[in-house]
Amino acid sequence: MSSGPIPSHNSTNEPGGRPDMSMTLPHTIIDVRTPLSLVDGLGPEAVARPTRALIVRRERPTDHDAVAAVHADAFAAPDQEGPPGEVALVADLRASNAYVFGLSLVAEVDGELVGHILCTRATVDDRYPALAMAPLGVRRDHRGQGIGTALVNGVLGAADALGHTLVGVLGSPEFYRRFGFETSTVHGIEAPESWWADSFQVRTLTTASPQMQGRFAYAPAFTR
Ligand SMILES: CC(C)(COP(=O)(O)OP(=O)(O)OC[C@H]1O[C@@H](n2cnc3c(N)ncnc32)[C@H](O)[C@@H]1OP(=O)(O)O)[C@@H](O)C(=O)NCCC(=O)NCCS
Repeated sequence: MSSGPIPSHNSTNEPGGRPDMSMTLPHTIIDVRTPLSLVDGLGPEAVARPTRALIVRRERPTDHDAVAAVHADAFAAPDQEGPPGEVALVADLRASNAYVFGLSLVAEVDGELVGHILCTRATVDDRYPALAMAPLGVRRDHRGQGIGTALVNGVLGAADALGHTLVGVLGSPEFYRRFGFETSTVHGIEAPESWWADSFQVRTLTTASPQMQGRFAYAPAFTR
């Protein structure tokens, strides 16, 4: 982030005014909703960045191939033959009664599908309805741009609005704690496999009850 004077190639600037971006960055679209003074937190030195349209929305039937391509890329391992298991897992979950309409979300950047997240029906103690969040994938060439964050926040908000109770996830606590996930045992919920330990976390939603204790179980498609 530059804190120095406006570069000399901004010679068309009004004294003390904003740089003439149309001259300096001819291919940059300036987001008219964001005052330049807020871009990079600076005033006249502000640097305009290309604006991308990031949209999180429900998956449509026509998205299935692109969703498979996202997970094939996101979960690819160097020594693996064939697509990673997440590709078939998503298809199996879609075809199962664990699938929840409205909780399979995709992220589009400038109209291109680059991320996907799914929440499916799960249980606590074989009797309390809950959700499992998996898989989450963002294409490698679009990582580190907040797309995973947008997908997680999107699906948690949607799940809460639909009245679901809590969401379980297996993954890095470093990543998931920012969304309010906590080690499941804090809530009296045991991981499906005890060796998952702190990697299994839950995020309580508005209708969660402290009575919901016991072992968390994913839909059968996860173990096929
Ligand atoms: C995990 C994943 C979805 C993140 O997507 P993304 O679009 O890059 O995420 P964001 O840009 O919103 O990243 C947000 C933050 O999470 C961090 N982060 C990303 N992956 C992480 C991981 N595995 N562990 C810890 N932190 C992670 C980023 O460094 C970033 O941190 P910062 O905000 O402090 O800079 C993506 O890396 C991915 O598809 N990974 C492969 C599949 C996978 O592991 N899915 C999750 C299974 S639990």
